[in-house]
Amino acid sequence: MRRVTENKLVIASHNAGKVREIGALLAPYGLEVVSAGDLDLPEPEETEDSFIGNAELKARAAAKASGLLALADDSGFAVNALDGAPGIYSARWAGPSKDFGIAMQRVLEEMSASGRKDRGAAFICALTLAWPDGHVESFEGRVSGQVAEAPRGTNGFGYDPLFIPDGYEQTFGELEPATKHAMSHRARAFEQLIATCLA
Ligand code: IMP
Repeated sequence: MRRVTENKLVIASHNAGKVREIGALLAPYGLEVVSAGDLDLPEPEETEDSFIGNAELKARAAAKASGLLALADDSGFAVNALDGAPGIYSARWAGPSKDFGIAMQRVLEEMSASGRKDRGAAFICALTLAWPDGHVESFEGRVSGQVAEAPRGTNGFGYDPLFIPDGYEQTFGELEPATKHAMSHRARAFEQLIATCLA
């Protein structure tokens, strides 16, 4: 286990919203954040077959190209009755128009076609810190729950309207954003990263 002694970190993402959110989470630990976009780093293709594999691939590429400590994430929605699909393909199921109505409909149709009664599912988030010398530290957070019979609610994004976290009756699309953020797969992965490498 390696602790962070650097005071600057590159976030291996070109998504400005994600960079801002992660920057705010890391600010209390004295880490200045720059994005892969700011540094014009190339976006590697996500060729691995797991969340951690893809997070490591992105973090390693950014650390190597920038010479800085790098942080990457990879996340998605995994449905038991679909053997973990859409999983690492969660974004792709929404198609080129990024329509998650279509993606959620496909989940429901494939669950129905599977004939399986299990409605269990989870959101999963992998986070990897990579150092320029090739060392990596990876963490995985998950939140378990059930697939709703139909999408409900307009909060959040992606598959949120289809997911009822354990212990609740509302979907992530219906729950207050603060309630989701306190228990989310992303929050849980960050808790581990902070406890292990930053706190
Ligand atoms: P990425 O890790 O940013 O590539 O996100 C992968 C995809 O997983 C997103 O496009 C969403 O479809 C899905 N996803 C990840 N996290 C969440 C979440 O918190 N709510 C809903 N969908 C999510």
